[in-house]
Amino acid sequence: MELRFTEEQLMMRNMVRDFANDKIAPFVEEMEKGVFPREILNEMGELGLMGITVPEEYGGAGMDFTSYIIAINELSRVSAVVGVILSVHTSVGTNPILYFGSEEQKQQYVPKLASGEYLGAFCLTEPSAGSDAGSLKSRAVKDGDDYVINGAKVFITNGGEADVYIVFASTNPELGTKGISAFIVEKGTEGLVIGKDEHKMGLHGSRTVQLTFENMRVPASNLLGQEGEGFKIAMANLDVGRIGIAAQSLGIAETALAEAVAYAQERKQFGKPIALQQGIGFKLADMATAVEASRLLVFRAADLRAQGLPCGQEASMAKLFASKTAVDTTIEAIQVFGGYGYTAEYPVERLFRDAKVTEIYEGTSEIQRLVISKNLVK
Ligand code: CAA
Repeated sequence: MELRFTEEQLMMRNMVRDFANDKIAPFVEEMEKGVFPREILNEMGELGLMGITVPEEYGGAGMDFTSYIIAINELSRVSAVVGVILSVHTSVGTNPILYFGSEEQKQQYVPKLASGEYLGAFCLTEPSAGSDAGSLKSRAVKDGDDYVINGAKVFITNGGEADVYIVFASTNPELGTKGISAFIVEKGTEGLVIGKDEHKMGLHGSRTVQLTFENMRVPASNLLGQEGEGFKIAMANLDVGRIGIAAQSLGIAETALAEAVAYAQERKQFGKPIALQQGIGFKLADMATAVEASRLLVFRAADLRAQGLPCGQEASMAKLFASKTAVDTTIEAIQVFGGYGYTAEYPVERLFRDAKVTEIYEGTSEIQRLVISKNLVK
């Protein structure tokens, strides 16, 4: 398969590439210090990047899914932080409302999410329910015209910054995954308590928090879909979300490769550039091959999604392979840089720290293998 982007997709790529180089690159160091890129997100809203695939009638850019994946990929080449913020905001923050919300809910929330006025977050994971998401303990009890929700969530990307949280809680624990329901919860809702900020290995500019729900009252009109549809909503959106994380991984790997190739040509040892010495040249060849294979998997999954075809298996394959490539390529890039690569003077150590989590969030590599193997035998 050859990647042939349309004129429109190429325009998106060039626009995002310029934006990332001009506006995001100078802010990378600030983000490394833990500063959340609020201004950058505002500008992305103005450019239509916060609602790329949202139909125009709901205030989005109405573009195809591949354009969205191109954007995540380009942003992540410069900043994996901005890449993950946009991926979570779109795939699992906005799309659950767009695809499962009532017309009223869509009118109320989607235009604000698509314009970037609102930022979205997704609250599935709990302290004792990570890979086994269906075992979550948060509980929602109907009380008049409201649901009262109690529980705790962890590792919530965009938490504390988001305006809209998609919250999963059980309305009927006896039914297991079929008792899980999804709710739209607005920032500032009484009982929505923003807890500890995680001090992470990488992605320092992206906020990741714990949340607790303390008798949090949510209007029944904010139930997303029907009672008991929550797990399906979570899984269906994660299927697609994983292509975004795969594109983020690809962006990190591409930059690590580019940095390693550039440095290996400039660095001379034993009288010639290390790129011309087989030990390093072969390393670069393996890195480039894995990056190319990741690119094909990512855009193949994106293309299926863009055509409205099933893509769960291909999304998991893309995420599994591209995240491993991101980790392997960044480690190898550090090796190419030698001692310099281990210092914060050069970008490759940050790339490695940013890469590692791609094998963990939106389903660990082990969960991707589970999804792929289940698909093989079903
Ligand atoms: N689409 C629609 N429905 C699905 C589905 C999918 N992809 N996968 C499962 N379901 C449905 C099943 O059909 C089933 O319903 P039926 O009985 O009616 O058929 C129901 O859900 C239960 O399915 P399973 O028995 O397969 O569920 P399970 O409990 O074995 O779990 C799992 C499956 C794939 C392991 C799932 O728990 C999972 O994906 N775990 C990983 C969780 C995860 O990815 N978390 C990421 C958090 S978000 C995040 O990380 C964002 C961030 O910060 C970057």
